[in-house]
Amino acid sequence: MKKISTILAALLMSAAAAQAATLAGVPMKDHHMAAFGDKATCAVCHGPGTPESRPSDKACIGCHGTMDKIPTKPNRFDKFPHASAHYGNTLECTTCHAEHKPSKALCNDCHNVEWTNFK
Ligand code: HEC
Ligand code: HEC
Ligand code: HEC
Ligand code: HEC
Repeated sequence: MKKISTILAALLMSAAAAQAATLAGVPMKDHHMAAFGDKATCAVCHGPGTPESRPSDKACIGCHGTMDKIPTKPNRFDKFPHASAHYGNTLECTTCHAEHKPSKALCNDCHNVEWTNFK
């Protein structure tokens, strides 16, 4: 019995891994693929043509608004990535947010902060 449940658990885990979102073979964030549905194309972020480098953040802002319009929750480190005295509203979204790989918050280059909703 133990063996069967181990095999079952392994199968369930590989099924979950297989569901990780992709578009034309490119890894994508689940939240975007769920939101875009069958309207998902590279052009949604990259504009027309074959994407070669990271997109400008015009598309992000078109849907989400600028950083000052996107509140983040207070945290015990008292750090607000979208409203820091260092950078205000001057950073591009893609300085911190990635789409095809894990995101990396610039703040963590210097501060120790654990984010609860960083995607
Ligand atoms: C939801 C927005 C979004 C969509 C849709 C999207 N991308 Fe991107 N793309 C990004 C962001 C953000 C980056 C920069 C960071 C990264 O690599 O994730 C990027 C970077 C890239 C890069 C440059 C990678 C590098 O290392 O310089 C390529 C190439 C690329 N995307 C191809 C694609 C292709 C092909 C598609 C469609 C299958 C696509 N992207 C769809 C947001 C998007
Ligand atoms: C076509 C509109 C559209 C574009 C373009 C777009 N997004 Fe989104 N994004 C959404 C929607 C819709 C959701 C899901 C609902 C939500 O959480 O706001 C979402 C979710 C997110 C989330 C997760 C929010 C959460 O709390 O779960 C992040 C982070 C995000 N987008 C960042 C970006 C960045 C950065 C870019 C540019 C590279 C971008 N988005 C481009 C529409 C868009
Ligand atoms: C300095 C790095 C940085 C930049 C630049 C940045 N973000 Fe974020 N963003 C974060 C971090 C970190 C979080 C998670 C905050 C947390 O977990 O408390 C976040 C959270 C979010 C969320 C989820 C907010 C929620 O409800 O919790 C969205 C949506 C988002 N960012 C979109 C954007 C968009 C769009 C831009 C550009 C206009 C942008 N971000 C620019 C670091 C950044
Ligand atoms: C290049 C390094 C660096 C980066 C990147 C950086 N900071 Fe800082 N930050 C500092 C230094 C140095 C201080 C001054 C520390 C002091 O006065 O004790 C500081 C102070 C602060 C303070 C006030 C003091 C404190 O520690 O609470 C806040 C809030 C803050 N940073 C938030 C942020 C946020 C949010 C980001 C990301 C958008 C960020 N920082 C990115 C270096 C950095």
